[in-house]
Amino acid sequence: MALNFDKAKEILERNGQPHVLRFWDRLDNDQRKALLLQIEGLDFESLIRMKDMLSDNGTKSSKSDIQPAEVIPLSAAKEPKAAGAGEDAIRAGVVGVVLVAGGQGSRLGFEGPKGCYGIAPITNASLFEIHSKKILGLENKYKAKIPFYIMTSLANDKATKDFFVQNNYFGLSEDRVLFFVQGMWPALDKDGKIILDAPGRIFMSPDGHGGILAALRARGIFDDMEKRGLETLFYFQVDNPLVEIAEPAFIGLHRLNKADISVKVCSKRDPDEGIGVVVVKNGRNAVVEYTELTKEQKHARLPDGELKFKYGSVAIHVFSLDFLRKEADATIPLHVAHKKVPYCGNDGKTVKPDKPNAYKFEKFIFDVIPDARCTINVEFAREEEFSPVKNAEGSDSPATTRADMMKKWFRWFELIGISIPRDTKGKPRYRVEIDPCFALVPEDFGKKLGKGFKITGDVLLR
Ligand code: UTP
Repeated sequence: MALNFDKAKEILERNGQPHVLRFWDRLDNDQRKALLLQIEGLDFESLIRMKDMLSDNGTKSSKSDIQPAEVIPLSAAKEPKAAGAGEDAIRAGVVGVVLVAGGQGSRLGFEGPKGCYGIAPITNASLFEIHSKKILGLENKYKAKIPFYIMTSLANDKATKDFFVQNNYFGLSEDRVLFFVQGMWPALDKDGKIILDAPGRIFMSPDGHGGILAALRARGIFDDMEKRGLETLFYFQVDNPLVEIAEPAFIGLHRLNKADISVKVCSKRDPDEGIGVVVVKNGRNAVVEYTELTKEQKHARLPDGELKFKYGSVAIHVFSLDFLRKEADATIPLHVAHKKVPYCGNDGKTVKPDKPNAYKFEKFIFDVIPDARCTINVEFAREEEFSPVKNAEGSDSPATTRADMMKKWFRWFELIGISIPRDTKGKPRYRVEIDPCFALVPEDFGKKLGKGFKITGDVLLR
């Protein structure tokens, strides 16, 4: 039964949030209905945890003892035995792909879902197109079916689905592309009060990529995965077009080690780079977010001069479906950030603050790692697999990502003995773009292109 005013009032009073109804008398019927729906959807159990965190002064940081975690080095990460096991799993149809794309992309400042952002150097193909074509490339190569699950949020779900429909799912079979919406959480003021951003509206934002666990369960996706016979899930983020989706050796290492979680790791660019590091904490594998490391921990060096906490996780994982399904019942930690959140003034008008005024809470996917029976960390070469679009300009921006995509493809040409025309400063004279359906890896690229190929202008291979 839908919530009515009296019941809503009682629930809110019980939870110390009666102010949510303070503009009730000014709302029309539709606004009242919408507000009641929002109240009905509130997760009061998590709200209590959020308030507790604020009274603890926010973060519980990792002052605890941490040690670097073990890492499978690059030299062992591509073993043929592992690649073979991964290929067998893909062919057998037990591998699915999960993309988290519910974020707000506020740093990039692009109108619309970040996955719709055009990034390919020549065709301007979007991030979604590049990811989808990689899956299509794998399906073609291994004659396999690879279901593609995409997590959206209420703010971008429709636009994301429309984009896939308008583009005919980029050649993927429609029945293997599944969207599911993550949960939303309110923001709290310093006293733990829910913030309204209009008289009849609670300000809500996505509950973090760790919200995937609750969303997979709530939307029936675990059941869908089981029905399709999946066992192993490749997980990645929308902003990295270099990602090697379901790379067979990574899948194979995960399966051969009977791991619950596998984590791709690379060397940090510098001690202050904003990525979490892989550690052993209280005897368990874990990732500690960069904001939760002390300055000493970030800069600590080993006797040979290497950074002690050198290996960062960039949210490229493989999960066992069984583990993830069990983990959906676990309570994972919350992370808090002090942010600017629009709020409704006493006059009912929305105010956009110029300083952080609110606390937003998120769950992070890597917080499931300590619960895993077996975790493996696998090194990868950053220049081959990681160049995210985070900012509008500067580092990790569209310009650096496009340049990194082209550098990777130029390396493919050089690997097969085709020279790159360069200017006097050594910069390639032309642009290059290779569609994932043309080739996913340099070996296939070499076979397809042959030795006689010469670069005499921009090269677009598809
Ligand atoms: P980021 O942490 O980079 O956040 O997300 P963002 O929202 O995309 O960008 P900013 O911080 O506002 O600039 C990393 C990945 O996690 C997904 C994002 O879509 C991206 O693929 N994500 C993040 C979610 O799916 N849901 C969330 O609630 C947060």
